[in-house]
Amino acid sequence: MAHRVGSLCEDLYPPSKSFSEKAFVSSMEEYSEMYAKSIREPATFWRPTAEILGIKSTSEEKDFVSWNFNPQKGPIHVEWLKGAQANMCYSALDLNIQRGLGDNVAFYWEGNEPEDDSVMTYKQLFVEVCKFANVLKKHGVKKGDRVAIYMPMVPSLVVAMLACTRIGAPHSIVFGGFSSGSLKDRIIDSSCSILITADGVYRGTKCVALKDICDQVDEVCEPEWVDCEDTLFLLYTSGSTGKPKGVLHTTGGYMMTAYSTFKYVFDYHPGDIYWCTADIGWITGHTYVTYGPLLNGATSVLFEGVPTYPDGGRFWAVVDKYKVTQLYTAPTAIRLLMKMGDSIVKRYSRKSLKVLGTVGEPINPEAWMWYHHVVGDSGCPIVDTFWQTETGGHVITPLPGATVAKPGSATFPFFGVVPVILDENGRELNGECEGYLCFSQPWPGIMRTVFGDHERFETTYFKKFPGYYTTGDGARRDTDGYIWVTGRIDDMLNVSGHLLSTAEVESCLVEEQSVAESAVVSRPHPVKGECLYCFVTPMDGVAFTDALVAALKERIREKIGPFACPDFIQYAPVLPKTRSGKIMRRVLRKIAAGETNLGDVSTLADQSSVESLMRHRLD
Ligand code: WT7
Repeated sequence: MAHRVGSLCEDLYPPSKSFSEKAFVSSMEEYSEMYAKSIREPATFWRPTAEILGIKSTSEEKDFVSWNFNPQKGPIHVEWLKGAQANMCYSALDLNIQRGLGDNVAFYWEGNEPEDDSVMTYKQLFVEVCKFANVLKKHGVKKGDRVAIYMPMVPSLVVAMLACTRIGAPHSIVFGGFSSGSLKDRIIDSSCSILITADGVYRGTKCVALKDICDQVDEVCEPEWVDCEDTLFLLYTSGSTGKPKGVLHTTGGYMMTAYSTFKYVFDYHPGDIYWCTADIGWITGHTYVTYGPLLNGATSVLFEGVPTYPDGGRFWAVVDKYKVTQLYTAPTAIRLLMKMGDSIVKRYSRKSLKVLGTVGEPINPEAWMWYHHVVGDSGCPIVDTFWQTETGGHVITPLPGATVAKPGSATFPFFGVVPVILDENGRELNGECEGYLCFSQPWPGIMRTVFGDHERFETTYFKKFPGYYTTGDGARRDTDGYIWVTGRIDDMLNVSGHLLSTAEVESCLVEEQSVAESAVVSRPHPVKGECLYCFVTPMDGVAFTDALVAALKERIREKIGPFACPDFIQYAPVLPKTRSGKIMRRVLRKIAAGETNLGDVSTLADQSSVESLMRHRLD
């Protein structure tokens, strides 16, 4: 998915004057000034945010920020406002109600069926959260206990997360598309004491999950004050060794990042109606469906459905129904809707739209242009936000009133973020360059550790380049200083914005008794961005049949989840290996992509392996 320099991507899209005038940050000069301050004096820059969020300084609080990114100088650590007290739920609900927003809508819930909807104000949300927090307490959940949540996109999911934060219990949400096996692995790894779930029959019916129990309990529940460095939540993300990592975020820093990125990147003003289409089970949903919007007292749409039901006009129908001002979605959804043609989009007004956001993978300039010109009628700035589960919030992103956009570029760093591009030897590259995308100092919302495995945290993110956080992505900086994220450079792949490790899928495949060996690579896909292409060598004497392919797909669906189901499973009589036995994935990627020139294969132990693979390849 690497971007090529061309006239298409080098076009400049400045924000309109009328947009900039009303924006929080209205010029590159203003951005640069704020940015410089955020790097030079982090404490001065972030202190007002901490105050707005109701974080309480105490005598325990020593340094505003303390950190080490170099394993050679001691353990890796990041701490913001350690010793100060906070409560996420208090900042998101109590404070907004005290400030007079109690009757404002927190969420317009739009169900899977277009006529199925409901509204929840800040006050109503507050009451539900307090009641449910008391339910949790009654079940013995205490401060510090971990709570697993496995729920669909319904208001009760937001209630459940906030109830956890209210009593200081970290949540660990498992995306509803994951299988029971994945749910089990995550519950065991995080040793959660309780699981909150729903009975799962919400399609087509009004959502009242958990309501019966909530109705019978106390409406008063004082927030439990926690240390800013206490755990707010765990969220599992794929790891290149196969075992998912429990990314751990803490309270104070994450709150500051969620609040400020939401405010500045979407330029949210009172009266705006914001809609992020992501599922809460992913980090995008945590930060930009629940926490970022609520901390800002925003009104959002919470959507249970999919872009194509009842038809391909659903997104635009929802935009018109609620007069959505900011829409935040993924390139894979944009490409899917683009394929359906412009006429469906043009059936709807979309006049309310002001800012369009994208996240999840590099957006190809064609999709960017379509989003801008067709969806936004050429009038809305596009924010292409680069970030990761690990970063907690946006790290490289345009600001809609300030940044002159280039289609396909995530542009410049957010406040407090210092991106560097390193070469293989860890040298910082300057000017126009391409290399490893890393960060040289912490912003408030960066992850603090991998749950239960600090060593894995250090090895994964800080070992390759001591002194830097390594994203695992490649990036290019152009002559104007714009950053272009080119995609993963490790054994991870990105299917419709969901990260998967090849190792995770491979180990699932070889669990099937009749499979001797497998290798999984990514293949470019017009809608999903990338899809899985698997090479499978059956055990001696076992035939490679359609039934085997079907069984393997089923296994992956069950073990990981439906989104991980491969598009291609090809017969591999033998895998291409070097003399030391390492599978040459570079060659497999080319075969999967349908290329005929496989590059240098001289280091292969068995040259004929490639020819037989070419004969069996799938299109
Ligand atoms: C990986 C992180 C962050 C929420 C969704 C995914 C890719 C994400 C962009 C973007 C280019 C992007 C990267 C990153 N990615 N956004 N705007 N441009 N690449 O979270 O599952 O932790 O995946 O998604 O490869 O490392 P995640």
